[in-house]
Amino acid sequence: MAGTRNRVEVLHGVNLDALGIRAPEHYGKFTLSELEIQIKRFARELDLEAAFFQTNHEGEYVERLHRLPDAADAAVLNPGAWTHYSWAIRDALEVAALPAVEVHLSEVQSREEWRRRSVLEGIVLGVVSGEGPAGYKRALEMLAKELRG
Ligand code: DQA
Repeated sequence: MAGTRNRVEVLHGVNLDALGIRAPEHYGKFTLSELEIQIKRFARELDLEAAFFQTNHEGEYVERLHRLPDAADAAVLNPGAWTHYSWAIRDALEVAALPAVEVHLSEVQSREEWRRRSVLEGIVLGVVSGEGPAGYKRALEMLAKELRG
């Protein structure tokens, strides 16, 4: 419908393509494709349209964020380890200037010290961490609320 703002892109960063084989005690045993199927279903339940992006290349992630306003109304970001040090990704999200929520599958606050800092602090609507795939549902709920005013 014209004027409907319901497009959400989920941007997975570095090493998220290794879900299923990577540290299942932190990330679970599901693959990225299986996770995306779940997120798509969460989105449908909220009348949102989900699209997906994953890369292991920081510059590609930055460029995707630059172009995002043409393709999406809001974003869910799980930049993986870039979360903790990539100021370039923070700047790129500011360029995109879309409502965004940060998600981590694992509970980053209770792991190593270096995972406690996020470069996205202060520019995202919220952070969901340690809830596994359900965390994406919570993020989509926050964005649905924001998009519907
Ligand atoms: C992660 C947490 C990060 O610290 C880590 O580097 C990841 C995944 C998560 O989803 O829990 O790659 O973002």
